[in-house]
Amino acid sequence: MIRVAFYDMKEYDKPSFEHYGALYDIRFRYLETKLNEDTADLARGCDAVCVFVNDTVNAAVIEKLHEHGVKLIALRSAGYNNVDVQAAFGKIHVVHVPAYSPYAVAEHAMALLLTSVRRIHKAYNRTRDFNFSLNRLTGFDLHGKTVGVVGTGKIGRIFIDICRGFGMHVIAYDRFPAPDSGIEYVTPDELFARSDIISLHCPLTEETRHMIGADAIGRMKKGVVIVNTSRGGLIDAEALLEGIKARKVGAACLDVYEEEADIFFEDRSGHILNDDLLLRLISMPNVIVTSHQAFLTEEALNNIAETTVNNILSYFGGDGLCDNELCYRCGHIDHCRKQRKERCF
Ligand code: NAI
Repeated sequence: MIRVAFYDMKEYDKPSFEHYGALYDIRFRYLETKLNEDTADLARGCDAVCVFVNDTVNAAVIEKLHEHGVKLIALRSAGYNNVDVQAAFGKIHVVHVPAYSPYAVAEHAMALLLTSVRRIHKAYNRTRDFNFSLNRLTGFDLHGKTVGVVGTGKIGRIFIDICRGFGMHVIAYDRFPAPDSGIEYVTPDELFARSDIISLHCPLTEETRHMIGADAIGRMKKGVVIVNTSRGGLIDAEALLEGIKARKVGAACLDVYEEEADIFFEDRSGHILNDDLLLRLISMPNVIVTSHQAFLTEEALNNIAETTVNNILSYFGGDGLCDNELCYRCGHIDHCRKQRKERCF
């Protein structure tokens, strides 16, 4: 039996993980707490830990897990900016779920955009109160507008297809443009200057942190709509708030927020929220916030559980493989062991 400490467990995680775990004799130790230096000891006696986007997997946590004999960190997410993969190298293998439903995230980005530009969130509240007035609900057509997509990977490409279906003109920036994709690639500056809507679909790295800051916002069109379903740290939230107050940013649709770790995914109603910036953003009439919900479809949850269980089985299976492994050298070295179907170390 393989024992796995499952951190930050939510009600919606359990059915699919129970199903796939039972098929292969994997026993999950469900923990509602997040993984951090104080809670790493709860993994004692486990072979692996299963973590999500707001678990802290820094060098100190990795050291503790290593001491407890944990051999595998199985992320049940695609993004892994919360894991110090360099510190893990040589100690604990790290695996992730590279794609579970890119459609879920791309469709959520479009749902947020449509909600915002057609004021659906306001209309919903009004009609529930039998207020059938249309005043201040005027939106704008997406057809014919220019959308700037940052990151043309799995999610970005699907979002582009959806936008094209709406008759939008698509431009994009990617550090590694996809050849022969038919996408019109431009520089970040050109993207900021030309886009009516900007949607972020690149990973959070040292290079992309705060890529949307005061300077970038200053270069954007007045009234630009910014959609972020990627990672909160891509946007300097204070600069965004200033841009909204200055009427430069027309609307923001945020599924992620830089300081979301202790706030999102939990019911905070009835509590005093200690994040003034988030309070201010939420109070703006042209800001829509969802709490890192873009991935949350039945299809995605099923795929996440199935791939995570397969990743765990692959590692502990004894044939020397490790499906979907990550290491700090991924994409940076020429002689990648993974490409030879070997483990990263
Ligand atoms: P992907 O790896 O398929 O695509 C990422 C793209 O970003 C690649 O084309 C890559 O070349 C590009 N990129 C890398 N560095 C860049 C840079 N410095 N500037 C511009 N582009 C750069 O990833 P995928 O599956 O499309 O996911 C994108 C992001 O969506 C993830 O990194 C994750 O943060 C986020 N995500 C959010 C979810 C949610 O529930 N809100 C769920 C799943 C993913």
